Amino acid sequence: MTDVRADGQRKRVFIRTYGCQMNVYDSDRMADVLRPLGYALSDGPESADLVVLNTCHIREKASEKVYSELGRLRDIKLERRREGADLTIAVAGCVAQAEGAEIVRRQPAVDIVVGPQAYHRLPQLLAEVERKAARRRAGKPFPGAGVLDTEFPAESKFDHLPAPLGVRAGSAFLSIQEGCDKFCTFCVVPYTRGAEYSRPAASVVAEARQLVAAGAIEITLLGQNVNAYHGDGPDGATWTLSRLIRAIAEIDGLVRLRYTTSHPRDMDDELIAAHRDVPILMPYLHLPVQSGSDRILEAMNRGHGRDHFLRLVDRLRAARPDLALSSDFIVGFPGETDTDFDDTMRLIEQGGIASAFSFKYSRRPGTPGALLEGQVPENVKDARLAALQALLGHQQQDFNTAKVGHTVPVLFAEPGRRPGQMLGKSPWLQSVHVAGPASLIGRIAEVRLTAAFALSLAGEIVPPFEVAA
Ligand code: 5AD
Ligand code: SF4
Repeated sequence: MTDVRADGQRKRVFIRTYGCQMNVYDSDRMADVLRPLGYALSDGPESADLVVLNTCHIREKASEKVYSELGRLRDIKLERRREGADLTIAVAGCVAQAEGAEIVRRQPAVDIVVGPQAYHRLPQLLAEVERKAARRRAGKPFPGAGVLDTEFPAESKFDHLPAPLGVRAGSAFLSIQEGCDKFCTFCVVPYTRGAEYSRPAASVVAEARQLVAAGAIEITLLGQNVNAYHGDGPDGATWTLSRLIRAIAEIDGLVRLRYTTSHPRDMDDELIAAHRDVPILMPYLHLPVQSGSDRILEAMNRGHGRDHFLRLVDRLRAARPDLALSSDFIVGFPGETDTDFDDTMRLIEQGGIASAFSFKYSRRPGTPGALLEGQVPENVKDARLAALQALLGHQQQDFNTAKVGHTVPVLFAEPGRRPGQMLGKSPWLQSVHVAGPASLIGRIAEVRLTAAFALSLAGEIVPPFEVAA
């Protein structure tokens, strides 16, 4: 086994992931990089030799969590050192990228700060930490501060990361695009993830094949601006997302394909047609619009108005009539009036949004929005968020209720909260629970939906149980 050291000891790494699915994918890739160095996964910091916090910088709350977690890790590290052992602490992800030097200053117990584009260099960074530890053990009083790697390297990490090793419960993420050039005025992503980059199509298709061979029946293609994908194709042409979807859909054994997160500006005719033509492309699309007010969309630098979004929704529904739409909304962007907010509420109704993530605007240092006048008071943001979430809650419940009585394929992912209960996802990404055996996990079964709740549905497996793959 590769996760046993030459001295017979097994090293353990605990990776805590905050934020988006891109970070979930990256955390798995970091585990893959660390495995050949002898690291097996542990399920908590107490049993780990190395802890990696894979952080999120999108809103203030997410960032601040990192510092309190680092305080707890420092205490574990001090305790270990008293016992003659150690704990290596690494901070990865978008907070690492944005606040690298600040992290090391605020929390000297941190050994490594590594930005999202440099994970393939983790082995060198760990070797550097080991050299410093040796100097400290030799009695050198100042072994040096934490090791920082937050450059955007010329090479792509994707060319240097090992192939994905495992698939959980039949479902896998596949990162195809990173970074963003759109510079929405509220958003840190163009600064933390860098310029838009698309992986070459051949390497994406090869990874999709590996994932299917490793047991994936569902793949979700990931990117901060996934539908802006424009990778070099094996034929010398530039491939768009729709071209890539059509190629991946050919892989034998793959039964579900999804992509996220899209931008309304990059939803072209070809991609809309893919929703009509590619049966394994699931009838669910996450299409963040952020606001329903033309004035606010303009101030956000979104590059489109409310009509563009609503027209897109109509065209998508014409292509795939059973399509469910989800979105992201920000309330309380600087200058947002009651009328602007009302426009957002009407857009949610008109667009028939089935579910959404919604947030209070968070002022992020370094973004143009942070400097705008007309910052909205916290109590107004709270009230708008509550009203918006109530409306979305109703629409989600209605959407779920409309599926009761239907029989749908469910991909099972994990045990439910109650004994004997299994939890899975419908094609519309609804959580569905049934009474069933653990052997359902990672498989698709037909389920008759019997009851709808705000956030889930209950159902019964339709006998005879068959895997619909
Ligand atoms: N404040 C609040 N929400 C934000 N998002 C991004 N930046 C901010 C911010 N500064 C939200 C957007 C985006 C989602 C991932 O996070 O809705 O689509
Ligand atoms: Fe952020 Fe806008 Fe880029 Fe999305 S499109 S990552 S919200 S800057």
